[in-house]
Amino acid sequence: MRNEGLSVLSLGNTLSATMSSEKERDYERCRSIIGALCEGDDDQIAKMASIVGVLHNEMNDFFWTGFYRVVGGRLVIGPYQGTVGCLRIEIGKGVCGMAAAVGETQVVENVHDFPGHIACDGRSQSEIVVPVKDERGEVIAVLDVDSVKKGAFDELDRKCLEQILTHVWRGR
Ligand code: SME
Repeated sequence: MRNEGLSVLSLGNTLSATMSSEKERDYERCRSIIGALCEGDDDQIAKMASIVGVLHNEMNDFFWTGFYRVVGGRLVIGPYQGTVGCLRIEIGKGVCGMAAAVGETQVVENVHDFPGHIACDGRSQSEIVVPVKDERGEVIAVLDVDSVKKGAFDELDRKCLEQILTHVWRGR
């Protein structure tokens, strides 16, 4: 007897594997464009603007893509694409402030479940924030990506975005 449950399960697995490899290919393309653009450039804003320009236009579901820089002990808006973002965020506040405080990537499936989430645009439903570290391991900025879809970001996004930032800022 056919097991309908199993075949639906395996179709689901196949679909999610296909989507994830499409995302992997998109990240691979971004990695190579960003690598070529930022090679040898040591201007922080030029690098941030180029990364945002590539990711925002090449990746699906990137509704807001931008950097907050650590300036005078607070996060201050840097290059971004999308609707208007908050100008300043305290370290420790919201998803960006948390990523900066702990120095670890935050993947938030549903922003409404994150205590203290700062809603710059009410349409954002999920978010990933990745710290940018210098050669000494100090957090100098965070990359924030928001999506209007719930659960848009996962471990693949974490891995690929961390790789891109590590490559650009720490050359490996
Ligand atoms: N949602 C972020 C604030 C930045 S905006 O989304 C552009 C947070 O909670 O840190």
